Amino acid sequence: MTLAPDRTATTDAPILDVLAERFSTRVFDASATIDESALASALEAARLAPSANNTQPWRFIVTRRGTDEFATIYASLRDFNKSWAGDASVLVVAAATTTTEDGSPMHFAQYDTGQAVAHFTVQAAAEGLSTHQMGGFDRAAVKSAFSLPENVAPLTVIAVGPQGSLDDVSDEVRARESVPRTRLPIAESVLVNA
Ligand SMILES: Cc1cc2nc3c(=O)[nH]c(=O)nc-3n(C[C@H](O)[C@H](O)[C@H](O)COP(=O)(O)O)c2cc1C
Repeated sequence: MTLAPDRTATTDAPILDVLAERFSTRVFDASATIDESALASALEAARLAPSANNTQPWRFIVTRRGTDEFATIYASLRDFNKSWAGDASVLVVAAATTTTEDGSPMHFAQYDTGQAVAHFTVQAAAEGLSTHQMGGFDRAAVKSAFSLPENVAPLTVIAVGPQGSLDDVSDEVRARESVPRTRLPIAESVLVNA
């Protein structure tokens, strides 16, 4: 079994190992089943995320490989994502409740949901689970298949599971798995540092 090369980020300042080492793999172990306690911990970390006024607008659809629900989410993925994400043990839809019960907009719904997913991915990494978020899927198809209310908007699908072997994937996926993780210099994102 050939694992992906080490993709630990080179950082300009020290950060937690789990953050430096996390990366979005496209190589999952197609024979693995999910470690349920690790998945529960990742969902618990999401539950504890901060949110505007503690509104907790995130909603998750959690599906295990082999179920009809997993197949439904898999079918909604764009073609390139389909080429690798079906090997994940779990596909999770992250959705946001975008309005309150009286119909007022929840302006931080997407922001808060992204933060909950960040918690999820970091806890998952600490538990030995890889994750890969995807925006490339058919939101309308997911919304309809799971009869989501009008004010619940699917945002991403997250592939979750143990990493697999590079021997079992396409040349394109294998090549992408070795690309260094690059980021903008900090000076481009910190506009003022007085
Ligand atoms: C909102 C969002 C949507 C993404 N959509 C896709 C996608 O559809 N397909 C894909 O292969 N990767 C997708 N990615 C993964 C990013 O390309 C990846 O996180 C980024 O290149 C940084 O790589 P790293 O997570 O390994 O550090 C997405 C990531 C995020 C956060």
